[in-house]
Amino acid sequence: MTKPREPLWELEPHTAAKHEILRRYLKGWIPKLGSRNRRIVYIDAFAGPGRYTGGEDGSPIIALKVARDYVGRPLVDQQLKMLFIEPDRERNERLKSEITALRASDLAYSAIGAVTLQAEYAAAMESLWASLEASRSMLAPTFAFVDPFGVSGLPYEHLVKLFHYPKTELLINMMYEEMNRFRGTAEFQKHLDSFFGGPSWKAAFAVADRNERRRAVIDLFKRRLLEAGAKYVQAFEMRNDRNQTDYLLFFGTQSEVGLEVMKQAMWKVDSSGAFTFSDHTYSKGPMLIGPQPDYGLLRRQLLERFAGEVVPLSEIRIFVLAETSFLRYKGECLKLLESEGWLDAVDPPPNRRKGTFADQKQLFKFIAKP
Ligand SMILES: C[S@@+](CC[C@H](N)C(=O)[O-])C[C@H]1O[C@@H](n2cnc3c(N)ncnc32)[C@H](O)[C@@H]1O
Repeated sequence: MTKPREPLWELEPHTAAKHEILRRYLKGWIPKLGSRNRRIVYIDAFAGPGRYTGGEDGSPIIALKVARDYVGRPLVDQQLKMLFIEPDRERNERLKSEITALRASDLAYSAIGAVTLQAEYAAAMESLWASLEASRSMLAPTFAFVDPFGVSGLPYEHLVKLFHYPKTELLINMMYEEMNRFRGTAEFQKHLDSFFGGPSWKAAFAVADRNERRRAVIDLFKRRLLEAGAKYVQAFEMRNDRNQTDYLLFFGTQSEVGLEVMKQAMWKVDSSGAFTFSDHTYSKGPMLIGPQPDYGLLRRQLLERFAGEVVPLSEIRIFVLAETSFLRYKGECLKLLESEGWLDAVDPPPNRRKGTFADQKQLFKFIAKP
């Protein structure tokens, strides 16, 4: 989207989809981590004014409203800290007023430590890292939502610093359309160097075919997030009303549970069918998740990956979760593979029924193609 000059702007459908993903993810993340840690942190690094012209909630208000549901639950109170970074004075003021209004409407919001900071993301993060280093403190488990309008002011080093700490997670919005359009401009190229942490973007953007280029860029940034310290990365594509890729969302986490919660959020959003929104995973080619997921694709991916191998169910599970777009795989895919003779349980216990996949330690042999 083009950068609006006005303090508020209109909510587009794929932005609503992005918000739904954020809302659903936080509904899983806040209670899970909040009940196990002395402190958890949500950073909305490009916070915006908290509202759209149609009255819809912006990301900070969405996050606060989710958090509100957990106020009063054991161990969540006072432990969730929210930091909203927004350099634009008017947007920052509007956000502050929105938060004040929420607190006035419901005292429970006062239990959530929400702070707004009128600053640029890079500068705010610099001072966060400096203060952690000076006090030799660890960053509490943190979920950072990085949702810019453009490409400038997003140095890769901050992602490396973020993933340096345990239990940190990132949802970052890559302005693909803008990058693709302005990649030849000298002024723009320094922002790309900074975003990708070097010139690696040049080869990916030089790919001639449009679809292949997009895939190369996704693969590259996925790799860069893994190199920064994420253990798992999922990429999601958001299309505009002309069905063209507008931006790409990347989720990076160090936690298998985090990955699972995010995939659940994505599947819920997509299966509503209300958004011009596609989910692609590019490790094995793009896939559109619609109301009827293509389990034939998962079957091919499993056979390609494991043909001839003996692996525990836990390894199949993590492959599906981390390397494909799919969430479900047992009844939807493994059952069929077993009934067709492509999959054999190795020394199963006598009480195991064919087509059931309960024990994560159970070994399975994938039959190699004849
Ligand atoms: C896409 S909007 C954020 C929308 C918000 N996350 C939401 O979903 O409601 C980007 C915001 O980042 C702000 N911004 C621009 N440059 C920034 C920077 N260097 N650091 C942090 N925020 C910035 C803009 O003023 C704008 O409000």
